[in-house]
Amino acid sequence: MKEKILNKPDLKKAIQRDSSVSPIIYVEDNRSQKLLDFAKDKKYYIHTYGCQANVRDEESMRGMLESIGLTKTENREEADVILLNTCAVRENAEDKLYGEIGNLKGYMEKHKDAVLGICGCVPEEPEILERILKTFPYVNLVFGTHEVYRLLEFLEEVISSKKRLIAVESKSGEVYEGLPVIRTSKYKAFVNIIYGCNKFCTYCIVPYTRGKERSRKFSDILKECQELIDDGYQEITLLGQNVNAYGKDLDEGKDFADLLEAVAKLGIPRLRFTTSHPWDFTSKMIDVIAKYDNVMNFIHLPVQSGNDNVLKKMGRRYTSSDYLKLVKEMKEKIPGLGLSTDIIVGFPNESDEEFNDTLKLVDEVEYDSAFTFIYSPRKGTPAARMEDTISKETKGKRFKELVSHLEKSISASSERMVGQVYDVLVDGVSKNNEDMYSGYTESNKLVHFKGDESMVGKIIKVKITESHTYSLIGEVISDDPIIQKAKELKECLKNEPVLEEYLRIKAIFEVDESLKELRQKIAESKAKNEKDEYDRLKQMYDNHPLVINYYKAKEEAMELLKGLHDIIQ
Ligand code: 5AD
Ligand code: SF4
Repeated sequence: MKEKILNKPDLKKAIQRDSSVSPIIYVEDNRSQKLLDFAKDKKYYIHTYGCQANVRDEESMRGMLESIGLTKTENREEADVILLNTCAVRENAEDKLYGEIGNLKGYMEKHKDAVLGICGCVPEEPEILERILKTFPYVNLVFGTHEVYRLLEFLEEVISSKKRLIAVESKSGEVYEGLPVIRTSKYKAFVNIIYGCNKFCTYCIVPYTRGKERSRKFSDILKECQELIDDGYQEITLLGQNVNAYGKDLDEGKDFADLLEAVAKLGIPRLRFTTSHPWDFTSKMIDVIAKYDNVMNFIHLPVQSGNDNVLKKMGRRYTSSDYLKLVKEMKEKIPGLGLSTDIIVGFPNESDEEFNDTLKLVDEVEYDSAFTFIYSPRKGTPAARMEDTISKETKGKRFKELVSHLEKSISASSERMVGQVYDVLVDGVSKNNEDMYSGYTESNKLVHFKGDESMVGKIIKVKITESHTYSLIGEVISDDPIIQKAKELKECLKNEPVLEEYLRIKAIFEVDESLKELRQKIAESKAKNEKDEYDRLKQMYDNHPLVINYYKAKEEAMELLKGLHDIIQ
């Protein structure tokens, strides 16, 4: 296939960082008649791998594709435009990608007019790009993270020229505004606040694939958030590789704490943010999170390692004690904080002692959730050039040990939630049980409960009844106090052995022949006025074990009903 190369990636250019404010590109409507004609009755398919930045890019690409009339399909075997939006952060995502491109060979050979595009982070790596171009000749479009906004232009070029088009420019990057968007959810939205990363952690490919840190203008972010609120969105997540660096590259005099506060004040019911770098996290930010009820009490704070030597080799810019100090302040100031983290096991030459420091830190922090990874060398990064004598087996063993340490605190934090009522934003039918619905608490714990379609996209109250390591089970608490009391009573009675016991004993008490006979004799002696005989029989009756049991059960049942009465009050 003939090809047109606009740009190819270059890691030397990818690492350049200057201090100038990044240009903003206000994207114009560039739909041509040719594209509109092409899109008639045609479908597109997008598969996104990796992080939320890619998910948000997919939403923009969907916006552009649907703006020319293409419709979405979940079945790539009927798509005219296929996009694989890739992740380069670890090798396993890359391997899955090769599998998926390979699976499309037969389809692309049969459908010569179809467009198969590879985008996202993987094409930004020069050697991998060459491998893809060579191994999969039917891939006819490749573009990088900086070219997302040019998708329609590229599509038109490939359709018209029938040539393979490659457009992956390594550069600091720009900020794009005004791209159309089709959001994945009608009530939860991602809002980019800062693109790229300047941290250059030595294991990480992201600073090479996504350019330098570029903050969006304060006013552009607030405008997007206000539109989401006007559209009825319930939750906004502010996005960036390192949200805490927001504003440092601008001359607006605003930082992340200012932005978080301003968005919180707009009144979105739930406000989240991810990801945070401990190095940039200030007390001012913690204070804003603590001050506003609609800023969720959840922080994803990647630690990566608990050992200072490894942290230094990773280029993380903090020590384990800096990190612990920060966590302490967060826990002290933010009630019910849910804390999560990322940890890498098996960084080059990590010793047993160094790994044990990570276990110690994990035990001390008591995380509520965590993501754990085995180190994966990324070509072009400094860590990939470091000597590594640690075997795969050792890394695997450490990984399991770390997970079991983490699971202890994660289970304990789930267990502490049992019996309490939490606000849950309902996502829909549970992924692993179609009889249940699920959603997340403010502190980001996954809860499954019996619900219905009317709850989807709403914030409801759920009482936690059962805890598992990675999820909770709960029951919906109604808004209506009468309905809620009735539900509580029903639950109380359903689970109440006292009532069952009373009914069982009463049945025996009523049918027992010896008791019937005694009752008859007591009645006769009373009628005949035989006082001594009456007293003797009455005493016999009162001391009969079935009578004693009956009155005891009755008294317990009465106590129970009095308790229910108190609940109603
Ligand atoms: N190997 C393993 N994990 C990595 N991460 C980033 N780069 C690598 C790598 N080369 C992990 C980090 C980061 C998360 C998104 O992915 O923990 O926080
Ligand atoms: Fe990668 Fe570090 Fe940047 Fe996160 S902060 S994206 S781990 S370089």
